[in-house]
Amino acid sequence: MWLRCGCAASLRVLASPLRVLGLRRCNTAAFMPESTGFGGVSGRSGLQEFSVSSSESFWAAVARHRLSWIRPFTAVQDCDLSRGRIRWFEGGKLNVSVNCLDRHVHTCPDRVALMWERDEKGSEVRYTYRELLEMTCRVGNLLRRHGVKKGDCVTIYMPTCPLAVASMLACARIGAAHNVVFAGFSAEALAERIRDAQSSTVITVNQGIRGGKILELKKTVDTAVQSCPTVQQVFVAMRTDSPVAMTARDIAMEEEMLKEDVVCEPAAMNSEDTLFLLYTSGSTGKPKGLVHTQAGYLLYAALTHRYVFNYHDGDVFGCVADIGWITGHSYGVYGPLANGGTTVLFESTPVYPDPGRYWDMVERLQINQFYGAPTAIRLLLKFGDEWVNKYDRSSLKTLGSVGEPINTEAWEWYYRVVGEERCPVVDTWWQTETGGICIAPRPSDPDAEIVPGMAMRPFFGIKPALMDTEGKVISGNDASGALCLAQPWPGMARTIHNDHQRFMETYCQPYPGYFFTGDGAYRSVEGYYQITGRLDDVINVSGHRIGTAEIEDAVNQCPAVAESAVIGYSHDIKGQAVFAFVVLKKNVDVEEADLSRQLNGIVSEKIAKYACPDFIQFVQRLPKTRSGKIMRRVLRKVVELDLDSLGDLSTLDDPAAVQEIIQEQSKRS
Ligand code: WT7
Repeated sequence: MWLRCGCAASLRVLASPLRVLGLRRCNTAAFMPESTGFGGVSGRSGLQEFSVSSSESFWAAVARHRLSWIRPFTAVQDCDLSRGRIRWFEGGKLNVSVNCLDRHVHTCPDRVALMWERDEKGSEVRYTYRELLEMTCRVGNLLRRHGVKKGDCVTIYMPTCPLAVASMLACARIGAAHNVVFAGFSAEALAERIRDAQSSTVITVNQGIRGGKILELKKTVDTAVQSCPTVQQVFVAMRTDSPVAMTARDIAMEEEMLKEDVVCEPAAMNSEDTLFLLYTSGSTGKPKGLVHTQAGYLLYAALTHRYVFNYHDGDVFGCVADIGWITGHSYGVYGPLANGGTTVLFESTPVYPDPGRYWDMVERLQINQFYGAPTAIRLLLKFGDEWVNKYDRSSLKTLGSVGEPINTEAWEWYYRVVGEERCPVVDTWWQTETGGICIAPRPSDPDAEIVPGMAMRPFFGIKPALMDTEGKVISGNDASGALCLAQPWPGMARTIHNDHQRFMETYCQPYPGYFFTGDGAYRSVEGYYQITGRLDDVINVSGHRIGTAEIEDAVNQCPAVAESAVIGYSHDIKGQAVFAFVVLKKNVDVEEADLSRQLNGIVSEKIAKYACPDFIQFVQRLPKTRSGKIMRRVLRKVVELDLDSLGDLSTLDDPAAVQEIIQEQSKRS
């Protein structure tokens, strides 16, 4: 295994003999002052108001306090949401990897930076700040030696592991952007992202291992790069001890890293240079590469990590998200490391080898803040309390939830059983686009109330607005509307890679002067926010976002399919599941079961397994408007058996289409 035998041993050599297995507390107060330094502003809620009304003063002070600059910034912000122009801390120069590593190595080199919870239970590996810096420098030098330059984009297709983190930070060190692609994506989905990002370098592993199953990641990369003419080199690290076929373009990563120096000169980056691209799904078209930049993103990730979770120096932070998603970026890597924290990298699944995995890990690693997804909580609660109670959870202080709404039953179980009614549950609302948490309870404020199932309050510098159907701001409470953010914040995405027009159309133009999130929200009588779900054709399967159009595109590629319509429907574990209505071409004579299998195969090949339909209904035709638009709204109601509120069907081309589908459904049930 990696770090254990074969090539693995080589990476072990990189580890410093000063490795510590326990946590050592040291003082990082020099760059993490408890007080934000705003004289006269008392209490967190006063500070929230100040952060919104005097946004420039707030962010300037926080940026000076919490980031380490090579050259100070000269302008706090230069933003105009109506033009999609977002710039923070211009004139300033810094290096993100120095902020995440070097400054902590100076004060406490032997503090643990990473706790890697490997798929194989009980074989965790710890890396100190010194070790992570050395590993990052070796990767940085290796990339430089192979011609990667400032401004290039490196695609990372790896499981959640220390070398993936070092690769991200190495890109930041030498000024390259990274593009992490979730290792569950198919070769085609990977290729599409490599091409769009114009990467010439890919970093991967021979094989991944998740839930005891081997994932052939290198083979997937081999297939992907066949359709990526830009790719010149693929670095291959060894996660398992199985050799893989290497081509002329492939480079054995650990072997080559050993030849590199442990010191690597950091590039001085402008605040607004790109730090990374991260692809996410929209309601139409291909996935969009959201662009995050250096200073603002890092500052926002660090500040939210500290205040939303009430993170304190010496705490062990356990975010179980994969590094392929924004949660893994902001709260697995950048936020905790910028704060000099200890962060857990979770490579496994919540039920491997059994449903006690999370809580066994909490006990073993003494995790203080646990951050996970409602889908996993819902799954685990079905296995019963005994899997939780078997383990000591007294280290836990805060429990976080992310990615989708958390229903009351799951919230209560998380709070009562997992947290023993001691730990605040923070339901955190945000998006790939927002860079960090925007709405969440703030447990660092001892007086703050938390209502189950509500994301509660805007974070510092965040000003939510609800819009009515005419596009006007709703001023009162106890109201629902389209959720917008009324002023810019440092963590927000700057653009869509190579498609600023799409950025404008999606986020800036629907409500001019505001950032439109795509979500609906309710504001309670007390002024607390509850997220009600997407307003567009994006669905959320187990906390993973996917556009219905992307799934339809894949389904429609099956030769037997004439057309299809995909919707999300509620599912008691996944939150939402995928329901596909499929119209077959005339004279297709295949068993429905065979066709379903074929369609699932196509979706997992084109996108990923999680996007596969949970239910497929073959129908004669789809309900459409006279202009030919598929009425997904009607299909959603039919699936939810909410036949009394099908709404106005008069715009349908042929209302009988709906009746046919209803009849088909009733035959089945
Ligand atoms: C979409 C963003 C945020 C990181 C993980 C997902 C939904 C996210 C919540 C929440 C209700 C939520 C929204 C959002 N969402 N958090 N606490 N309550 N819904 O990032 O893939 O960019 O998806 O996830 O619909 O728009 P993402």
